[in-house]
Amino acid sequence: MAPGSADFVVVANRLPVDQVIGPGGETGWKRSPGGLVTALEPLLRQQRGAWIGWPGIAQDDTAAVDEPVFLDGIEMRPVRLDGTDVAQYYEGFSNATLWPLYHDAIVRPEYHRPWWDRYVAVNRRFAQATAATAAPGATVWVQDYQLQLVPRMLRELRPDVTIGFFMHIPFPPVELFMQLPWRTELIEGLLGADLVGFHLPGGAQNFMILARKLLAAEVSRGTVGVRGRFGTVRTASHTVKVGAFPISIDAAALDQAARAREVRRRARELRADLGNPGKILLGVDRLDYTKGIDVRLRAFAELLAEDRVDPADTVLIQLATPSRERVDSYRLLRNDIERQVGRINGEFGRVAHPVVSYLHRAVPQHELIAYYAAADVMLVTALRDGMNLVAKEYVACRGDLGGALVLSEFTGAAAELRQAYLVNPHDLDDVKDAMAAALSQSPEQGRLRMRALRRQVLTHDVNRWARAFLAALGSVRGA
Ligand code: ADP
Ligand code: F6P
Repeated sequence: MAPGSADFVVVANRLPVDQVIGPGGETGWKRSPGGLVTALEPLLRQQRGAWIGWPGIAQDDTAAVDEPVFLDGIEMRPVRLDGTDVAQYYEGFSNATLWPLYHDAIVRPEYHRPWWDRYVAVNRRFAQATAATAAPGATVWVQDYQLQLVPRMLRELRPDVTIGFFMHIPFPPVELFMQLPWRTELIEGLLGADLVGFHLPGGAQNFMILARKLLAAEVSRGTVGVRGRFGTVRTASHTVKVGAFPISIDAAALDQAARAREVRRRARELRADLGNPGKILLGVDRLDYTKGIDVRLRAFAELLAEDRVDPADTVLIQLATPSRERVDSYRLLRNDIERQVGRINGEFGRVAHPVVSYLHRAVPQHELIAYYAAADVMLVTALRDGMNLVAKEYVACRGDLGGALVLSEFTGAAAELRQAYLVNPHDLDDVKDAMAAALSQSPEQGRLRMRALRRQVLTHDVNRWARAFLAALGSVRGA
């Protein structure tokens, strides 16, 4: 295959923008939400590179190759998906098989052979588009669970490129992964990379155990970690490094943005719109069953019922971005959450003063920052989350040292944010106690915790994450 001209290529399921077709058939672009986009955008601006991904709509002619689009200085190379690809590769295998399996099987994973076949076919399309875009000797960075077969496919097409892979979601324990009918193929796919990265050492270890178990690969005993120490897996053709790289956010930019007078004014306005309650609690999530939105609502309802929280003086704001809306479990979740919100407001709200203020939409970033600045208590109660960038964003926005973070132990972020109010989301009393403690903390206690949290977040930003990963990938060549 003829090489392309990009020296650095990011390959992800989604482009950082969605394509929208207007009523007259005209094409436009709009930003798309998601942690991955938030994390990688600053990097691509700094480097000359290309981003390969799906533009977010179903299109009929998947063989057509679109011209690259340049947006905000980033070269975008769209990979087309048709309706069946979306249903079977994206909604099916990626989000009704892999997503629940990798998140502790909170929802039962579904195994369907046509979904797998489509996952293979779409991964091949991504690998081919990448092979046609990467310059000789380029560095290619493949992202996330939707594209686990791309590293091996790309290595076969283009043995000259260096391939990194990063998993943005948890990588499950062996007992769960072994359910997958295509378990060996997925591990082989990942082992096409030169470096495979995870958020936490536990995920890296799970992967190495599986490589040994399923492929009898020789696995090093090296400690897996971020400080230049890696495990290795030897395959017939090459050695794969494996490591842990906890992702982060553009912390300085958020810190700066949150200090703007306009943001502080908007935060006061939000509070006033809610009737100036004494305390505001906040949840910000994609509407996903992994996020434990139901957990925090249940805990809040019990605190209200037990008079531990005053409904006249407290509001819980829940911002929920619509997500994967055609997948059954997400449809059911939306119904459940909205019923729960209705019930709590029916029981504890007053006319024009709901105790839960719920928005089913994404809000613009400057508005989101104002919500973070206004919130006395941030609630992150995920049942399982690879990292959870929302927790880090909240901390970055609290240069005033105000606020408190209630954080699930089952997030990647909990490994770093030890001074949060850490909770086990399966233990409702624990969640309630943490919420009550966060609501009643003294300003001095709060400042101590927030100062420590901010030290961690501001010194471990997304640039550091990317540099660490790319430095480790660069060192593969010399190895
Ligand atoms: P995930 O990658 O599973 O969606 P993360 O917490 O890691 O979860 O990242 C979510 C990203 O999406 C964050 O950058 C957050 O600011 C953004 N986000 C989530 N909900 C909303 C919302 N309602 N409006 C705007 N942005 C949102
Ligand atoms: O981090 C997990 C992830 O699936 C990312 O790959 C993606 O950017 C984000 O969550 C949003 O999910 P989706 O692309 O399915 O809307």
